[in-house]
Amino acid sequence: CGIVGYIGPKDAYPILIKGLQRLEYRGYDSAGVALLDDGNLHLYKKKGKVSDLEGEAEGKNQSGHLGIGHTRWATHGPPSDNNSHPHVSNNGEIALIHNGIIENYSALKEALIDRGFKFYSDTDTEVLVNLIEDVKSQDNVSLEDAVRIALNQVVGAYAICVFELDNPSEIVTAKMGSPLVIGLGDQEYFVASDATPFLEYTKKVVYLEDGEMATVNLEKGLKVRTIIDNKDIAPYIQQLQLDLASIEKGGYEHFMLKEIYEQPKAIFDTFRGRLLPDQNMIKMGGLFEYKDRFLNADRIIIVGCGTSWHAGLVGEYLFEDLARIPVEVEYASEFRYRNPVITDKDVVIAISQSGETADTLAAIKLAKQAGALIFGVCNVVGSSIARETHAGAYTHAGPEIGVASTKAFTAQVTVLALLSIQLAKLKGTLNETRYHQLLEELYSIPSKIEYMLKSDKQVRAISEKYKDAQNCLYLGRGYNFPVALEGALKLKEISYIHAEGYPAAEMKHGPIALIDENMPVFVIAPKNGQYDKIVSNIQEVKARNGKIIAIVSEGDEEIAKMADFTLEIPDSSEAFSPLLTTIPLQLLSYHIAVMRGCNVDQPRNLAKSVTVE
Ligand code: G6P
Repeated sequence: CGIVGYIGPKDAYPILIKGLQRLEYRGYDSAGVALLDDGNLHLYKKKGKVSDLEGEAEGKNQSGHLGIGHTRWATHGPPSDNNSHPHVSNNGEIALIHNGIIENYSALKEALIDRGFKFYSDTDTEVLVNLIEDVKSQDNVSLEDAVRIALNQVVGAYAICVFELDNPSEIVTAKMGSPLVIGLGDQEYFVASDATPFLEYTKKVVYLEDGEMATVNLEKGLKVRTIIDNKDIAPYIQQLQLDLASIEKGGYEHFMLKEIYEQPKAIFDTFRGRLLPDQNMIKMGGLFEYKDRFLNADRIIIVGCGTSWHAGLVGEYLFEDLARIPVEVEYASEFRYRNPVITDKDVVIAISQSGETADTLAAIKLAKQAGALIFGVCNVVGSSIARETHAGAYTHAGPEIGVASTKAFTAQVTVLALLSIQLAKLKGTLNETRYHQLLEELYSIPSKIEYMLKSDKQVRAISEKYKDAQNCLYLGRGYNFPVALEGALKLKEISYIHAEGYPAAEMKHGPIALIDENMPVFVIAPKNGQYDKIVSNIQEVKARNGKIIAIVSEGDEEIAKMADFTLEIPDSSEAFSPLLTTIPLQLLSYHIAVMRGCNVDQPRNLAKSVTVE
């Protein structure tokens, strides 16, 4: 979910609506705002997008200089007007928005029902707002204290924003597990899940840490303190580096398309200051600092979710192939609950675009306790995962707004390539010539992608042809097996076509049963992989009348003769081919989804930042 709040001299409503639109990537099944206008509450909530909320509020009273807004990704209770936030307490005095999950909500709810409270939604959030009302009236304390006392009874994750009707100069916020940032303007304050809602107003921000709460008060200013022991904390004010242009569409029809086209720059920015082929070196501060831990590691464990997990799989091939270090790649959610064996000889690499994914965060906390070195590969600077790690290397892909990850993936693979090459050099598993070749070649990847992006006519034609498919299969081997998984994920995420990625050789153990003349099979078959083997796999598909769309190296004639369509990529060594083969698959998914009339940037049911388990 995304949350936003404003207090100051301006009208809150337009700021909240624009803020919610920018936060919509975090969830978009319902939205709502609460405005405080001269002691009166204007509450508008609607199932659907922020635009539906705007429709709901049109023509109604939108005044107020204090307000909070929410865009939801349902956890407790289906998307509906009723379950939308903000939620208001029984006496109508307190309004609250919440991102996260209150795990002990049913016990709290029962106790509140016993005390006479009524509930009008299925959400855990409504429990929290009533708990605050109950504490406030029983203990006769300020809202701030009531929030703190109530939160001490809560188990779960939250970022909340609360205000009360008889105090127009104050918003109370708190954070545990879900992100929250406060923007400090001139006589005004902003609160949000990330800084994008208020970029045009202020760049001065305070990121709350877990277990902290903050009160913004127009007379008293900002006060930060701990939730458990009520200790004052001096807020650490930071200056944001983000600019407005980086979060706008810049002439592209969708964020996803913009982000696909930004990949040469994203990769290049990720190289910046690190990949220096003319000096024949790679500089990575985090790796250098913990060099001995990496060199003495028994193994590397990579954890992540979704697309980041796929990047981790490419990492497995890179680290094992180049640096000869054993690697395990784990879904963070499985790893953390499996009672895994972790020692201080392990290096755990956490990959996360948002840096907020709850399962990944929990996985590294666990591994850290067991003594492992934790290295982060995150895109969002200052995010929870980035802060929890011992060291790391940011991907410098810039803000990724399309829910389906594109440039973050290639930037993650880029960081893993840099790390593995440098580790290989330190371990002595690469000779000088090969090392230098790899640096030069990696450096040339952005211009190769640039070249591939110049024409996507062929991709459009293929998309047109297969847009009505009901199922698709993606096959790859070696370094390009993870690309097959990622290609299938991209298609299913945004076009809702069922798609599966498989190691090409595994096809004969199951998926081959699905192949007939209606089954498009996307085969990733660059020249330098296990080429001959994959040619045989293509023949196996052809023999069953399947349709072949192959991603091949430039000038490949052999596969071109067998395939229904081919898409060419420039030559590269196998280790870097995922950075190239991924591109046409992203474009294919994009075009197919657009042709099917799907909402590419905000596919149904998904959210970009998953701060629940
Ligand atoms: C969500 C997003 C995916 C993303 C995954 C992991 O499911 O929709 O695009 O790959 O979370 O997110 P992270 O921010 O940890 O990379």
